[in-house]
Amino acid sequence: MRRKVIAGNWKMNKTPTETKAFVEELKAVASGKDNCDIVICVPFVDLQAALEGTKGTKIKVGAQNVHFAPSGAYTGEVSAAMLVDLGVEYVVIGHSERRQYFGETDETVNARVKAALEAGLKVILCIGELEKERDQGITAEILGKQTKVDLLGVTAEQMKNVIIAYEPVWAIGTGKTATNEQADEACGIVRDVVASLYGKDVADKAIVQYGGSMNAKNAADLLKCENVDGGLIGGASLKAPDFGVIIDAAQ
Ligand code: 13P
Repeated sequence: MRRKVIAGNWKMNKTPTETKAFVEELKAVASGKDNCDIVICVPFVDLQAALEGTKGTKIKVGAQNVHFAPSGAYTGEVSAAMLVDLGVEYVVIGHSERRQYFGETDETVNARVKAALEAGLKVILCIGELEKERDQGITAEILGKQTKVDLLGVTAEQMKNVIIAYEPVWAIGTGKTATNEQADEACGIVRDVVASLYGKDVADKAIVQYGGSMNAKNAADLLKCENVDGGLIGGASLKAPDFGVIIDAAQ
């Protein structure tokens, strides 16, 4: 049995002050829910508040991006070592919004994944097809290419620290959720690609999340799918009661 991982991706939401208040609410709703892992991936400036607020709890904290270089002349960027030094455990890499708005490619995603893993971070690697790619019937090819290129050079041992989030781009922030069948099938395809790269044992243990308009209403059914090992949740992770319902569904 794979343990489910419920992760919130706040995107560009909440100030440090709002983070403090939210974490208190989240601690109350998450208390005693020990049958899944809980992560909140927050803006860089909120990391400190999230880490302080969650100290001594099972709620883990993640960043939403990391640079691939260890240090240097990269104005505005944050390195893996900086995150580790702060006490951050997770980092989201390759989110479709970064691919869409900030020129992220599979090659730069791969460089970030390797830098993060080498520094000791756990990676939530986001992949997913565009609506037109699904319509063209090339979802499996797209997921295969992204998984293979994004994980190039990552060892089987390092795969213990990699979560793959399948996020169909057409379902992100649109309220248009993948059906349970679509989510299960796509997460299964990703698991098969992982098996082709690392073998069945690694693939059986790999955590593959679904993300894209997961909410308090649809989470329970999505999380019942055999290949769906949790969720990466945007909008619904910003309200503690809704996020709490999703955490409950993962118990
Ligand atoms: P929504 O849950 O708001 O659709 O966002 C999903 C997502 O992009 C999580 O990374």
